[in-house]
Amino acid sequence: RSVAFIGSECYPFVKTGGLGDVMYALPKALAKQNCDVKVILPRYACIPQEYQEKMVFKGAFDMDLCSDGRSYYVGIMEYVWDGVVYDFIDNMEFFSNGNPYTNLVDDIPKFCYFGKAALAALNFMDWEPDVIHCHDWQASLVPLYLRTMFNNTPIANAKVIMTIHNLRFQGVYNIETLKYWTNLPDYVFNKDCMTENWLDANMLKGGLTYCNAITTVSNTYAGEIQTPEYGEGLDAHLRYHSGKLRGIVNGIDYDIFNPATDPMISVHYDLSNVLENKPKNKRALQEELGLQVDENKFVIGLISRLTDQKGLDLVNQILPQIVDDFTEVVILGTGQPEYEDSFRYYENAYKGRVCANIMYDETRSHHIYAGCDALLVPSRFEPCGLTQLIGMHYGDIPIVRETGGLKDTVEPYNEYANTGNGFTFDRYDAGLLLDAINRAKTFYFTNRWCFDEMVQRNMDKDVSWENSAKQYRDLYVALTTD
Ligand code: ADP
Ligand code: GLC
Repeated sequence: RSVAFIGSECYPFVKTGGLGDVMYALPKALAKQNCDVKVILPRYACIPQEYQEKMVFKGAFDMDLCSDGRSYYVGIMEYVWDGVVYDFIDNMEFFSNGNPYTNLVDDIPKFCYFGKAALAALNFMDWEPDVIHCHDWQASLVPLYLRTMFNNTPIANAKVIMTIHNLRFQGVYNIETLKYWTNLPDYVFNKDCMTENWLDANMLKGGLTYCNAITTVSNTYAGEIQTPEYGEGLDAHLRYHSGKLRGIVNGIDYDIFNPATDPMISVHYDLSNVLENKPKNKRALQEELGLQVDENKFVIGLISRLTDQKGLDLVNQILPQIVDDFTEVVILGTGQPEYEDSFRYYENAYKGRVCANIMYDETRSHHIYAGCDALLVPSRFEPCGLTQLIGMHYGDIPIVRETGGLKDTVEPYNEYANTGNGFTFDRYDAGLLLDAINRAKTFYFTNRWCFDEMVQRNMDKDVSWENSAKQYRDLYVALTTD
């Protein structure tokens, strides 16, 4: 099958979170399963020069966009890598910012343009995909454009999938502005499709209405988003469309996240030598970060965007109770200032035992995955979560809240059967988080034999894309054969 992926970020060109990982790894996994895949992305000015240089100009044309009567430039720059074709939509008016996202005033027109330009580019390239696979709100106008203004073009036979990576972000803006920038017909601006109330329109809601299938990135999240608690205001809409909604859990890319070959870490290891070599990475991490160097300490890592989604208020409440003479905490992330500041404060208050790395740094993240014993993911909600998967693959013990993909990927430790991958808690409560951390600590200090078995079990667990990519491929086939 031929598939066009449309989304707003993709590793290694531009990544702010897990969406970037998925946009890279899933097309690559699908290409290995004989799908013909093109990934359509904005050509942001912030894409590193080494990739900009490799892009080849494929053509350009002018396109009508909004009701101002102007025509807008669409350039197509192409880069082919690992069996996947990346087509970057070039337009400096929209994509020249140093960041893929800034604020809605800029982002709304940017992604109104991007969705339409992506479809126009497919027609221009004379490539008719069987399936157009759209990711999150930034690509969610694609189903609407396709079934209205592109209805009589060669790509109109394609089926469209919307994947929800994070329902919190929906592209909500006032109706007049969205009408202006999209030029979509008035009839889509009704409450069963694009609009929320008399004032606002919702890009994601419109896309979910017009697509042929909706997926999200874990089974549990697929259920959760149909409830008011996790539905972000769209639960009723999703319940109405539940017949075309399902969950497919994410995987991770084994070429990039592989402790046996990872060029970023100090000492390589695999299942056979993890118990000797992982502690060497722990020492390297402690030295790098100015922590007390001792491989017998229990090192807890946290790698995350610092936003309310991630349960950081819980961590803040109990951090002083986590650190002690035997325990160190390493944080890596950027985001809301209140979290950045409190973690900096703790680093200062617990010198040598807490390290707050307030930065975005891929290399450092690999050092932490390789060097820590446990990885904390106490999220308020988590559509899938990749850090616990990466962590397990590096032999870390995840400590997670039982929500979304965390619930689906981390089986709680059962001390009677000696099974499971980590420690979990259910209610969103700092006391319960502390309890889960203390159980993990006790396990490490008093039952090292079983702890080490868990480390090996986690490294051995299949968290690759293979199985999930197959489920997407089966979905493509099912959608295009009836
Ligand atoms: P989300 O997409 O909600 O941010 P995920 O767990 O799906 O959460 O994906 C997060 C990805 O971003 C992982 O690859 C993780 O390693 C990476 N990441 C998050 N914060 C940082 C950071 N500060 N530096 C480097 N990588 C980070
Ligand atoms: C989102 C979610 C995260 C998920 C990622 C990739 O950013 O917050 O849970 O793993 O998308 O699907």
